[in-house]
Amino acid sequence: MGRLPYGAHGSDAYRIIQTIFMEFNETSYAENKEVVVSIHEIQRLYSRGTETVRALDGVDLNLYRGEYACVMGPSGSGKTTLFNMIGGLDSPTAGRVFIDGVDMAQLNAKELAFLRCRKIGYVFQQFNLNTTMTALENVMLPMIFAGMHPDNARVRGMALLSKVQLEERWRHRPKEMSGGQMQRVAIARSLANNPALLLCDEPTGNLDLKTGKEIHNLLYDLNKNDKVTIICNTHDHNMLSVSDRMIWMTDGKIDRIALTADVHIEKASLGEEDYE
Ligand SMILES: Nc1ncnc2c1ncn2[C@@H]1O[C@H](COP(=O)(O)OP(=O)(O)OP(=O)(O)O)[C@@H](O)[C@H]1O
Ligand SMILES: [Mg+2]
Repeated sequence: MGRLPYGAHGSDAYRIIQTIFMEFNETSYAENKEVVVSIHEIQRLYSRGTETVRALDGVDLNLYRGEYACVMGPSGSGKTTLFNMIGGLDSPTAGRVFIDGVDMAQLNAKELAFLRCRKIGYVFQQFNLNTTMTALENVMLPMIFAGMHPDNARVRGMALLSKVQLEERWRHRPKEMSGGQMQRVAIARSLANNPALLLCDEPTGNLDLKTGKEIHNLLYDLNKNDKVTIICNTHDHNMLSVSDRMIWMTDGKIDRIALTADVHIEKASLGEEDYE
């Protein structure tokens, strides 16, 4: 049993306190589940002058098909670095990452690009949309990369925009959309090629509370109804409370894992000391 106070969450003037009732038992959790991502002893070191930054310092983790896992941890604890490793956007200094049983290190550039395009969907805090393209073109892009005929990509693109309730905005460019709308386009784009895994790095970090809830509902629906596996770096109370597992990181290591059902999540007002 442990009590983990957690720091302020962006625009919400509260902090989250978690009380964990049970230690996580990987063996029983893994029963009847299929591994989608398997990470073995990864390290990611950066040189900064004479100093070495251990962004990831020996991380082992399995992610299971259909689960919704949330990652938390203080700034600089290695969350984005971990996501970049899983997403094949960067490679570890040591250790291995397997996606659907495939060792990423064994892939050449073309195979890696194929895997990233087909198996993984990305949602970032800053949306990362192509600003010169319309909403529809942004969503179509990964399908075109994957070799789909443009006519089919357009039909599927519209269906995905409709899923995020933006079909009427298909012609709009990012600068003509709100933050929440841009993030919904980014989510539609992330689903373009039916990914095995959706990586969401602070997907509501740049959004207000209400818009954040819309994104949260959308991700929740994708996980529960469409069985999309989601790993989400978030401190958003709504997202945490519907996840299956919570993973805490500190100093490039996984500190603790718990089933969300075993965690009592409490919102507390921020005190003066929380801003120090
Ligand atoms: N390209 C880089 N060169 C040097 N150091 C880096 C680089 N990228 C990340 N780091 C360092 O690695 C550590 C982990 O960074 P990372 O971005 O993964 O943290 P984070 O947990 O995502 O933080 P935040 O919550 O602020 O987004 C930090 O100390 C960071 O300064
Ligand atoms: Mg980060």
